[in-house]
Amino acid sequence: MPGILELRQAIVERFAADHGWQYEPDQVQVCCGGKHGLYNMCQALFGPGDEVLVPAPYWVSYPPMIQLAGATPVIVPLAEENDFDLDASILGQYVTERTRGIIINSPSNPTGSVFSRKTLEAIGKMALERGWVVISDDIYDTIVYGNEPLPHILEVDPRLKEQTIILNGVSKSFAMTGWRIGYSVGPKHIIGAMNKIQSQSTSNPSSIAQKAALAAVRGPQDFPLMMKDAYLPRRDYIIKELVAIDKVTCVVPRGAFYVFPNLSAYYGKAFKGKVIDGSVTMADYLLEEALLATVPGAAFGAEPFVRFSFATSMAVIEEGMKRLRKALADLS
Ligand SMILES: Cc1ncc(COP(=O)(O)O)c(C=O)c1O
Repeated sequence: MPGILELRQAIVERFAADHGWQYEPDQVQVCCGGKHGLYNMCQALFGPGDEVLVPAPYWVSYPPMIQLAGATPVIVPLAEENDFDLDASILGQYVTERTRGIIINSPSNPTGSVFSRKTLEAIGKMALERGWVVISDDIYDTIVYGNEPLPHILEVDPRLKEQTIILNGVSKSFAMTGWRIGYSVGPKHIIGAMNKIQSQSTSNPSSIAQKAALAAVRGPQDFPLMMKDAYLPRRDYIIKELVAIDKVTCVVPRGAFYVFPNLSAYYGKAFKGKVIDGSVTMADYLLEEALLATVPGAAFGAEPFVRFSFATSMAVIEEGMKRLRKALADLS
């Protein structure tokens, strides 16, 4: 079951209005959140022996979802010095005859970074030559700072539409996380295979939640813009505070609502005899001693870093940065 026709039609219309991309409702699957969409597509697309390229830092669910399909995630490192854009010249090192696809997440969770047009062109070229499927996780595409348009893989070459599947949803753009509505848009045969999987598992997302998502997708689109305007001063503030701390570096996120500072200069230091030996002990320390909730970089395949979210009030962020400064200064 692909989801109610009204909602799939509304998604098709939104894609056309926002991007000029033309799809039919039978190229759309509505599912129980973006996470479920990714699960369905991995199950439909990959199997034992297949390899899937995953740039790291990655969103936590990509490698396990690929593994649940019996396939192997192949991690491609992104460098902080390159603003976490992919250096396409290294991509070839990770490609084998078993490579079936690549996951793009731009803007990214956890880095907030965006892949440049040049990078997308290089990925698109390889995907066309080798017949890869491209998964473009666009869940943060309404939260992009600055006036430059967000580059997209579909703009690289019209032929890529036949082998690209887009993941999106209302969790981030409309802050409707709990409603659990995501959607995938792509070639009919892939959506068809995903519909068989969904039909034998959840049937479909709750029709009540689908109606709520319909109101969001069809309604005025000023809400995502309002959210973005609210996030921008918080991003600028948290970056200013982070890089002012001795030996902390942080890439300025171009989108989403996370910062991913490099705290590794503090690894090896200790508090009350307990050594901070990596991102997990750092996140534990920040939670226990400073009551700061963060996510360790290890969860995203990037040990030197810790993720902070700035999707909270300025007052909370100010207090959080005060506590972080003190917690790092207390390490010796
Ligand atoms: C990059 C990325 N993709 C997909 C999702 C899935 O979101 P949801 O299942 O809430 O729609 C998330 C949620 O955190 C995410 O960060």
